[in-house]
Amino acid sequence: MSRFDYKGKTVVITGASSGIGAYSAVEFGKRGARLVLSGRKLDALNQAAELVRATGAEAYVVPADVTRQEEVKTLVNKALDLTGRLDVMFLGAGFGVFGRIDHISLELWRRQMDVNFWGVLYGFYEALPHLMKQKSGQYIIINSGSGRLGLPLFAPYCASKFALVGFADSARYDLREFNIDVLSVYPAFVVTKFHASIVSPDFEVDGRMAADMGGISAEQAAKDIVIHAEKRKKELIFSAGGKFAARLFPMSMALAELGRKGSMAVFKKFIKPKF
Ligand SMILES: NC(=O)c1ccc[n+]([C@@H]2O[C@H](COP(=O)([O-])OP(=O)(O)OC[C@H]3O[C@@H](n4cnc5c(N)ncnc54)[C@H](OP(=O)(O)O)[C@@H]3O)[C@@H](O)[C@H]2O)c1
Repeated sequence: MSRFDYKGKTVVITGASSGIGAYSAVEFGKRGARLVLSGRKLDALNQAAELVRATGAEAYVVPADVTRQEEVKTLVNKALDLTGRLDVMFLGAGFGVFGRIDHISLELWRRQMDVNFWGVLYGFYEALPHLMKQKSGQYIIINSGSGRLGLPLFAPYCASKFALVGFADSARYDLREFNIDVLSVYPAFVVTKFHASIVSPDFEVDGRMAADMGGISAEQAAKDIVIHAEKRKKELIFSAGGKFAARLFPMSMALAELGRKGSMAVFKKFIKPKF
């Protein structure tokens, strides 16, 4: 299969205001793509756009909240107006809800699914008619290692990411005949604002978790993601431990329980009960 050539192509990124999305934008920029950067924070989006422009690439900023379908529709339409095309939807916006399951309200569950699941679906469906018509394109869906193993104290986040595993695997098969790629990305620890942004009713979560656990930089994660997208791969599981977990945990509940025990030991180092 030939490589995906980003030169002159339009890449729309949700979650582009920081972390993995912002640095992935830079990697696409280096390959000659035009970037449309989205998120809610305008200042941060403008900073990310400057990083992209420093590569010599065009970058546009279109703020949108992915939980609002109308805003995602406007994002896609503006990308088409500004650049005249749409080739890649990078669906990276996400956050984590953390806490003991009996402390998580249904409202928090909805917020989690609205961003991590419905936010992806809105972007997917707004872009779909354009990609199907031109019979080429890519979806890049930022999942998580937490989409492959249900972790203690992380039920809403894991559920939102598990939903995306089935969604992406089905979509990939259905879209083959339209020459549309679906790359699922499963990061482990990446040093971004993710852990500091975790919402929890019952724990303070230390934002340094990824750094202290030896996580990779967002720049490195972005490089790996774009290399895999360029090669038109189906999935990217970060870290040897992540690959081991994704392949072996589904085969053995005993191993999966060990994985959960290990995760709990890690979490305990970085959380403090609020009451
Ligand atoms: N960092 C890790 O260790 C790690 C591990 C596994 C998976 N992931 C996944 O990687 C993805 C990117 O996260 P990151 O690590 O780069 O963290 P990050 O730096 O916190 O970035 C999260 C991005 O999501 C955007 N976002 C959040 N809620 C949004 C909403 N309602 N509407 C639009 N945009 C929204 C944020 O933009 P605004 O605040 O401007 O809206 C920001 O650009 C997420 O899907 C996360 O689940 C991260």
